[in-house]
Amino acid sequence: MELEQLYLKRQSTRKYSGEEVTDGQLEEICKLGALAPSAKNSQPWKMFAINGAKAKEFSACVQMFGANKWASNCPAFIAVELNRSKLEEKIAERFTFADFAGNDIGLLTAYITLAAENMGLQTCILGIRNEKEIADFLGEPEGTKFPLVIAVGHAEEGYPVREKDRKPFEEVFKLIK
Ligand SMILES: Cc1cc2nc3c(=O)[nH]c(=O)nc-3n(C[C@H](O)[C@H](O)[C@H](O)COP(=O)(O)O)c2cc1C
Repeated sequence: MELEQLYLKRQSTRKYSGEEVTDGQLEEICKLGALAPSAKNSQPWKMFAINGAKAKEFSACVQMFGANKWASNCPAFIAVELNRSKLEEKIAERFTFADFAGNDIGLLTAYITLAAENMGLQTCILGIRNEKEIADFLGEPEGTKFPLVIAVGHAEEGYPVREKDRKPFEEVFKLIK
């Protein structure tokens, strides 16, 4: 797909058809995601692809306070674990402004969502999640951080591609010359 079209088509999809996502598709999306740049090439992430019957179970981890109810019908998820090196931990502690890992996770997420869209799959980035429940579900140590989860599936038939709702460009852009 042409890059501009991809940017316009990618949107938060909150209604999914029953069509399943294959394990191979999830692997391919994560392989492309892993090409994202990161500070000092630290790649402070691990991606867990959750598919099939397990996805239904997992959806409860992103439904705190009654949020994301639609996620029960989403066929797959990618949970992103924050996997920072000791050095990055120290930098983040000492200079709170240097949260490089947070930026890195954002970049990874952008790569993942665009890779999925390019493969004809839709996504929704989920910041509302219960990290403790996710760690339990995945068998990871308590306290492990999961900054983002990405819902992946096929949009329900007829689900519209919405006009982008964005600030006026003049508000967010200034040319200096
Ligand atoms: C860090 C982050 C967290 C988000 N968390 C949620 C969420 O928990 N549930 C949800 O439905 N959408 C969530 N979204 C989607 C945003 O609401 C959405 O990206 C934004 O409104 C722009 O709409 P668009 O993605 O359709 O272009 C999140 C997006 C980001 C980037």
